[in-house]
Amino acid sequence: MDNHSADMVEFGPRTHLLVTGGAGFVGSALVDLLLARNCSVTVIDDLSNGSLHNLPASDPRLTIRTFRVGDPAYSAAVHDEVRQADAVFHLASPIGVQLAHKERFAVTSGILESGCAIVEACRLHQRPLLYTSSSEVYGSGRDRPITESDPVMTDLRPRWGYAAAKAAVEHLVAGLFFDFGIPTWIVRPFNMAGPRQRPVTGLVLPVFVNAALRGEPLVVHDDGEQRRAFLHVADAAEGLLLIIQCRSLRGRPVNLGGSEAVQIGNLAKMVVEAAKSGAPIVTKPSTAVYGERFAVTYDRVPDTSLLTTMTGWRPLRSTNQTITDSIEHMRTQRVMA
Ligand SMILES: NC(=O)c1ccc[n+]([C@@H]2O[C@H](COP(=O)([O-])OP(=O)(O)OC[C@H]3O[C@@H](n4cnc5c(N)ncnc54)[C@H](O)[C@@H]3O)[C@@H](O)[C@H]2O)c1
Repeated sequence: MDNHSADMVEFGPRTHLLVTGGAGFVGSALVDLLLARNCSVTVIDDLSNGSLHNLPASDPRLTIRTFRVGDPAYSAAVHDEVRQADAVFHLASPIGVQLAHKERFAVTSGILESGCAIVEACRLHQRPLLYTSSSEVYGSGRDRPITESDPVMTDLRPRWGYAAAKAAVEHLVAGLFFDFGIPTWIVRPFNMAGPRQRPVTGLVLPVFVNAALRGEPLVVHDDGEQRRAFLHVADAAEGLLLIIQCRSLRGRPVNLGGSEAVQIGNLAKMVVEAAKSGAPIVTKPSTAVYGERFAVTYDRVPDTSLLTTMTGWRPLRSTNQTITDSIEHMRTQRVMA
């Protein structure tokens, strides 16, 4: 990674970072990493899907504020926190295809309201901003790895409200850079997985792990041949930190995702085997789960060569390790519950 260092901004004990959504799955892994690098951190999270148990609350370098970004009642508080930060990671967002499908209005408006609030505060106080968009902006998928220059695609089916809102905020974030000269980064994560991801989100890996541990059926949608690449959350956090440190990635969309493509039907088998579970694997049409207006996605695998070329980042943990760590975490949670 040495030959990239001239292009990288140093973070250290004097760096104070704001992480919205920091009590969530990815946000809390990022907070762990930032604290390990001796930075100080403020988290804003409304706990709609996050938990204070994900955070080392007694660490004196960590401040936790629990309110909704985008709620006008907390606009002054958002401005205060942005002003005090050296840079902002905006991760707060409603998530999951399941929620996007069922609550299109709340999901779309939640992304837009929080995005507008953070972008406006960063514009006013001239603070660098990293925004986590989503690979959902690429639409239904491709039969080859997806690059950042692939088109952003949405239509009016309920699922794509999430993608359209993420894409709209991408434009605001790009505008901060191109119109106002404020450093910004647009990250398009693909499937991230690992400890602290919750099955209630409907995301496939925690849902499979939860079912396997309970001995309940793992429900594979459609033919199970759709491919994804799962990125361990610790590798995702490393990627986010390297991206915000990289000058050359400012103003550009950057894919963040795993390197091993796996068919969902095979993922179910890997989970059952790793959990040593006797749970059955069954298939179901996705339209039977979500209804006729569901937008099916096929292969969605990232090309992450831009990120690797610019920063030297590579995922260090395999899909098997991601599965094992997810199982381990969920087992511990169940024992403690
Ligand atoms: N997990 C994935 O595979 C994945 C894939 C693509 C993109 N992303 C994006 O990455 C980011 C992090 O996702 P995650 O998987 O950690 O989700 P998460 O739900 O675990 O984390 C998001 C956090 O934001 C909080 N939150 C939501 N809206 C808020 C608001 N208005 N104000 C304050 N807090 C709010 C939630 O309570 C939660 O703790 C999100 O922006 C998500 O859209 C995630």
